[in-house]
Amino acid sequence: MGEPTVDHAGLPSATDGEVSSARFWNAAQGGKDNYERDRQAVEAVEKMAPGITADARSARQFLRRTVRWAAAEAGVTQYLDLGAGLPLAPDIHHIVSRHQPDARVLYVDSDPVVLAHQSAYQDPPLSGYIDTDMRDTDTVLAHAAERFDLTQPVMLTFSSVLGHFSDDEAHAFIGRLLEPLAPGSCLMLSHDIPTPTIITACEVYSAAPGALPYQPRTIEQLQAFFEGMDLVEPGLVPLFEWRPDEATEVTEVMGYGAVGRIPA
Ligand SMILES: C[S@@+](CC[C@H](N)C(=O)[O-])C[C@H]1O[C@@H](n2cnc3c(N)ncnc32)[C@H](O)[C@@H]1O
Repeated sequence: MGEPTVDHAGLPSATDGEVSSARFWNAAQGGKDNYERDRQAVEAVEKMAPGITADARSARQFLRRTVRWAAAEAGVTQYLDLGAGLPLAPDIHHIVSRHQPDARVLYVDSDPVVLAHQSAYQDPPLSGYIDTDMRDTDTVLAHAAERFDLTQPVMLTFSSVLGHFSDDEAHAFIGRLLEPLAPGSCLMLSHDIPTPTIITACEVYSAAPGALPYQPRTIEQLQAFFEGMDLVEPGLVPLFEWRPDEATEVTEVMGYGAVGRIPA
């Protein structure tokens, strides 16, 4: 392995225990379900890549705006959140049930810490949690078929998640998950792009003990996930430019996001 190109000072050491993707992101978003070592890792990344915590908050705000749009304006009642992470209210089921009282939300993650927090947090039949690897699409779809009416639209959300996977892997599982979905179903994704700040942030974060590496994607790579779909206005844009509201923070451009719909 070559010499690191950036300073990793301030990261926790292996004896402090492992940093998890879910807890790291929860700490970066200002959540409370994380350990000292996760907060230490966030501080080390923020020091080398200032703005990463604003980027994390911005991604959460984007998630909230997109599901609110889907429930309030597109009439979507079914939501599958892949790589849900730790709860951070208001979560999807809180938001969409304001507009669709009969909504159904399924959260999916494979981290045991997420399982511990999310299973106690659910509000059935409005929301439920599946502890599985999202690449196991047969299991994910079996749960979706049990809880959803797949003749009606479903929204898939991948919020700050796809950077954990290669392009081949991500296209394969997203394609498989979209296959049985009805016209009008939506694909939402938010993703960091390779700016100097993000490249540094990914490098420092990935050096933390136990960290699941995360890679940015180019705008062209992100566009490819929406092939054959109609992009909801304003398209694939910096997160804070997607239908901003009074809670939207304007940050350095680090993340892009979009919502696509399966045409009728
Ligand atoms: C950076 S966090 C994002 C959390 C949340 N979506 C958000 O926007 O705040 C990435 C999440 O993906 C989850 N994850 C990573 N690989 C996964 C996999 N193969 N299957 C299911 N979840 C996975 C992690 O456990 C983590 O909770």
